Amino acid sequence: MGETIKDLKRTHLCGEVSKKDNANKVTIMGWVQKRRDHGGVIFTDIRDRSGIVQVVFNPDSGEELFEKADTLRSEYVVAITGEVEPRPEGNVNSDLPTGEIEIKAEELRVLDVAKTPPIQIEDNIDTGEDVRLKYRYLDLRRPKMTKLMGLRHDITKTTRDYLDQNGFWEIETPILTKSSPEGARDYLVPSRVNPGQFFALPQSPQIFKQLLMVSGMERYFQIARCFRDEDLRANRQPEFTQIDMEMSFVNQEEVMEITEGLMKELFAVGNIEVPEKIKRMSYQEAMDRFGTDKPDLRFGMELKDLSDVVKDSEFNIFSGTVSNGGQVKGINFKGGADSPRSTIDAFEDYVKMFKAKGLAWMALREDQMKSPIAKFLSETEIEGIKKTMEAEKGDLLLIVADKPSVVAAALGNLRLKIAKENNLIPDEVYKFAWIVDFPLFEYDEAENRLTAIHHPFTAPLEEDIEKLDTDPASVKSKAYDLVLNGEELGGGSIRINNHQLQEKVFSALSISEKEQQEKFGYMLEAFDYGTPPHGGIAFGLDRLMMIIGRTDSIRDVIAFPKTQKATSPLTNAPSEVDKKQLQELGISIRS
Ligand code: AMO
Ligand code: AMP
Repeated sequence: MGETIKDLKRTHLCGEVSKKDNANKVTIMGWVQKRRDHGGVIFTDIRDRSGIVQVVFNPDSGEELFEKADTLRSEYVVAITGEVEPRPEGNVNSDLPTGEIEIKAEELRVLDVAKTPPIQIEDNIDTGEDVRLKYRYLDLRRPKMTKLMGLRHDITKTTRDYLDQNGFWEIETPILTKSSPEGARDYLVPSRVNPGQFFALPQSPQIFKQLLMVSGMERYFQIARCFRDEDLRANRQPEFTQIDMEMSFVNQEEVMEITEGLMKELFAVGNIEVPEKIKRMSYQEAMDRFGTDKPDLRFGMELKDLSDVVKDSEFNIFSGTVSNGGQVKGINFKGGADSPRSTIDAFEDYVKMFKAKGLAWMALREDQMKSPIAKFLSETEIEGIKKTMEAEKGDLLLIVADKPSVVAAALGNLRLKIAKENNLIPDEVYKFAWIVDFPLFEYDEAENRLTAIHHPFTAPLEEDIEKLDTDPASVKSKAYDLVLNGEELGGGSIRINNHQLQEKVFSALSISEKEQQEKFGYMLEAFDYGTPPHGGIAFGLDRLMMIIGRTDSIRDVIAFPKTQKATSPLTNAPSEVDKKQLQELGISIRS
């Protein structure tokens, strides 16, 4: 049993003891970071969430105290009272905020002992992530992780303050609810009192925030937990947090402006400047120039359209693709002409992952041009390609011919791969852009039907409403995404606020009337009682945190994250449950 602190008051946090406390008596409480014996003197570093301070035990402060200090081990929890003294000359540690002083111990209480921790409590460890997640409570003791948790608090607090100042109310919406369509699979929760029936955990508060606008709440926000059972990628978690907002009586520009203000304040926490007005780029322009709707604008290597140059070429792969409505486009890897064949082959294998059939290339070496396709191209075509791609000696031109979606995916991704492999992306550069004028729908080949690019509640542009019946694929929407350095930070839209128009969009999405009623009947009904024009947006808090906290793992910014396999090594969730529990729920497991 440890000693108690019942008559003892903590006067200082470890990281905050300073020169100005010299000659004062202080009491600190925290964990033993380190203990060193130095010629009859014991030095200990004591840590709490604010930082570290050095405590000295001298034999002359009493034998009992000295012997007790000798029993201290890493991660013991202690309370120490002593006098603050300047460190002797030569012992000042300028790396440590408390490096000018130390505490000369007068009293030591061991509040709890500790086993040797399975991970070292310091930054820059190489312990595997599984171990870090199993012992997450120890991992969070590491200064880097502790700081990130503090930063997350600062970010949510700044969000709440800014939105409060702008008239937003924080309102909670249900976690046990019905499916909300954001394009992922739902996590389901069986209802014991309604056997055979299930709640869905929300993929986002989308429908409720719209209903709150029908309710006249005018401006809503929530730091909202969202659940999506999707295949995990580096920057995704099955359970994540959105800064979720909705506003009534606003147009698209107003939503964008209000959220730009929020972004300015949040990024300022990380000393990152957001431009006065964030650049707007149409979806089409982003796809044309970068092959993606979340372009990384920190470097060039843009996609150039060569279709006109090669449309009459004898090289049938090019001319045939153009005459069939496809495109021929290329990127210029500046200075890449001397890339070995194996590198170019790897590029070709890479674009094939995005369904490209091949990768044509031209290496403009100092002495000669190397290219497997040169023999099929005329001099004019070769010159035309070079001119369009602003090519110079030393460049490697990489070309794909296919339908536009394949060209975009292949070259857009190859552009990123080459930039990463060749360090073409500058550090500490932040390029924001709003992507606007998205199409309302995209064609899902697997399902052979249109699906919503954002979600089915997004409003079409007024001038395109007529085309919903005749040419739905060409309808543009009032949706907008905020993109930073090739990542989508957030997305939103102006919503449909009319029952008939909402039904029309559901129908274009091949959602039958029966299904509309079952899934969204309550929402359509609400729209009949006076719905204000409204719109909103949601930002991925975890993604914002990764950028502001300058870490490349989403798991570093969440206190208790899941693994890439959607499990928790700490709690062992998900896990099997009692037969009795299943029986009560009327569920049997098929083996
Ligand atoms: P959307 O689906 O685009 O929009 O999500 C908004 C933002 O949430 C973040 N995000 C994620 N972060 C971590 N892990 C995930 N699995 C994950 N999925 C999404 C992204 C994304 O930009 N209801 C709409 C918003 C609206 O229209 O108002 C919505 O949820 O940063
Ligand atoms: P082939 O005639 O199939 O040997 O192709 C000649 C060159 O054209 C090879 O370098 C292929 O990788 C390339 N190629 C084939 N199909 C395409 C395509 N759709 N787009 C670009 N290059 C291609």
